[in-house]
Amino acid sequence: MSSIEITVIDREGNRAEGVPWEDDESLMECLVANSYPILATCGGNASCSTCHSFLDRATFEKAGEIQEDEEDVLDTIEDEREPTSRLTCQVEWDEDLAGAEVTIGPM
Ligand code: FES
Repeated sequence: MSSIEITVIDREGNRAEGVPWEDDESLMECLVANSYPILATCGGNASCSTCHSFLDRATFEKAGEIQEDEEDVLDTIEDEREPTSRLTCQVEWDEDLAGAEVTIGPM
């Protein structure tokens, strides 16, 4: 089992470094495992948007392509969406994402 560390900024602006992300977790599952208040209402199926977060630019570039179902959901939260928005349930663990900075999206 491998693990990387990321930085998470919560909805209150608190910044935590060294948050562990295990290789069998999506980014959403990592946030939930670390007790961040992510509802993940759809269970990680890219259909609810409650796991929406913002990535730092470099991580966004490395995190893989946004698939059509995720794109459709991001379109429904147009007001909140930013250029580096992702549904964290669709971001897979990758060693290259060590040091990622993730800002949890608004409720
Ligand atoms: S958990 Fe529902 S879209 Fe990610």
